[in-house]
Amino acid sequence: MRTELCDRFGIDYPIFVFTPSEKVAAAVSRAGGMGVLGCVRFNHPDDLDAVLRWMDENTDGKPYGVDVVMPAKVPTEGTAVDIDKLVPQDHRDFVTKTLADLGVPPLPEDAARNEGTLGWLHSIARSHVEVALKHPIKLIANALGSPPKDVIDQAHAVGVPVAALAGSAKHAQRHADNGVDIVIAQGHEAGGHTGEIGSVVLWPEIVDGLAESSPDTAVLAAGGIGTGRQVAAALALGASGVWMGSAFLTAQEYDLGVRSGEGPSVIQQALLAATSADTVRRRIYSGKPARLLKSRWTDAWDAEGAPDPLPMPLQNVLVSEAHQRMSASADPTTVAMPVGQIVGRMNQIRPAADIIAELVAGFEAATRRLDGIRDS
Ligand SMILES: Cc1cc2nc3c(=O)[nH]c(=O)nc-3n(C[C@H](O)[C@H](O)[C@H](O)COP(=O)(O)O)c2cc1C
Repeated sequence: MRTELCDRFGIDYPIFVFTPSEKVAAAVSRAGGMGVLGCVRFNHPDDLDAVLRWMDENTDGKPYGVDVVMPAKVPTEGTAVDIDKLVPQDHRDFVTKTLADLGVPPLPEDAARNEGTLGWLHSIARSHVEVALKHPIKLIANALGSPPKDVIDQAHAVGVPVAALAGSAKHAQRHADNGVDIVIAQGHEAGGHTGEIGSVVLWPEIVDGLAESSPDTAVLAAGGIGTGRQVAAALALGASGVWMGSAFLTAQEYDLGVRSGEGPSVIQQALLAATSADTVRRRIYSGKPARLLKSRWTDAWDAEGAPDPLPMPLQNVLVSEAHQRMSASADPTTVAMPVGQIVGRMNQIRPAADIIAELVAGFEAATRRLDGIRDS
């Protein structure tokens, strides 16, 4: 399974994995893929710097990348305190009542309160780029738009290619016009912020559009990939590689989220139990449409009388402590977690290297099957 991206990045397989966990990112890179660390959760650049130092020491010299979030349209800038003041009291009351109705316990008195995700403010995301470029990163990816031109130039000046997620052919073209090197064509079924068009329609549409106008722009296929057969489908539809997120949330190395004892975390327990029908695409996580695990929390926001979600970044500031309380509550029915429809196939906890090995084996089996069909 080699494409031109393997030579370009010095990786064995064109499998790029977005993950918020440095443990998973490092394991993916060590296993021959490209681990890409999500930076949005780092409100303080020093914390990111420390984690990237850990990555430098734990990737055996294999390449890794980072992912930042610079939305093309940012409604608000400011500190956590400034933004907090903009959250309406009615919304706060709804969250308080919902947590009480769902029986979610309060955090212990002495627990540090999560101040909300600020990494999608440009000021913070730029600090992520500054910090990341001091490390030997091999890729910067951006969600929710092209990064600003000066950020693209800054990355290119030190030879780091830039990728950006696109949910439509129009967005893909805009990225290419802005100087983005790799477009991640992300279908509707993906976890996290996602658009309206399904992967099987979107991937070839973006591949064909860019082949004509911007032949140097590579395309990664994302959204719904969890098996080697799906990797084969993505490459058959013209992508130069795949970009995955959800399937690695049940990697053994994934260590974010609270564990009650030895077994999987509460979040992983919820993911293992879910079917492909158990996701919803809602604005309640961040203010922009994102695919989430369906839970009693998402149901509460769908019920009559629930308020409309706030715009980004206010909504996450509103719900961040609620997310923290639900993750700590040991009740898998009330987690707030982005995940894609492939969650229905995420049925065991395994090392990231095993997931990669199965993707490669599944790809080979699928292509052998096709060879058999062609030759019969
Ligand atoms: C828990 C989670 C968090 C995500 N956060 C981000 C993010 O911060 N930045 C980003 O570019 N993409 C993010 N995504 C989307 C992934 O980069 C990726 O495009 C998506 O997971 C691919 O589809 P899949 O979930 O079907 O594999 C997230 C996805 C998940 C599941």
